[in-house]
Amino acid sequence: MNLQLRLYPDPVLLKTAAPVEVFDDELAERVARMWEIMYESKGVGLAAPQAGWSAQVLIQNPSGDKSDDSEAQVIINPKITKKWGKSRESEGCLSFPEIFVDVQRALGVHLTWQDIKGERHEADLTGFPARVVQHEMDHLSGVLLVHRMSPVDKIRYRQDLEQLALEAAER
Ligand code: CO
Repeated sequence: MNLQLRLYPDPVLLKTAAPVEVFDDELAERVARMWEIMYESKGVGLAAPQAGWSAQVLIQNPSGDKSDDSEAQVIINPKITKKWGKSRESEGCLSFPEIFVDVQRALGVHLTWQDIKGERHEADLTGFPARVVQHEMDHLSGVLLVHRMSPVDKIRYRQDLEQLALEAAER
């Protein structure tokens, strides 16, 4: 499978991602490729569907810097079991270049997930990592920035979205 960045409106972005059941070398290779794509694209998070792979895998590194990966995480089969607080911030998305949308998210979440070896973890996330994980988890159920736009955003970005659709049709 040749993983590469998928832009809206690629149909893979709208699918519900399948849970990961096998934690093997192929999984590790695909995740390694996701890191390449994320850093090349100067992102802080990436969900597998954005690489054309419809699996419940996401990665994040709040620093966005390959050489500063102390908080980098591979999160597989994530589930939010508790949420608290509210926070409204601007979000971008590698699948929507140049588009930024204010999105309300929980301020903190209790997350359970598996790592790349299949081991189970749980933790409270707050602030920026909580926001990134909530954004990337949207991708796993086919929810995109375009679905989070207010009516005003939809008008503001109508031409950009049409342009993306046009470019996709030409590929
Ligand atoms: Co995104």
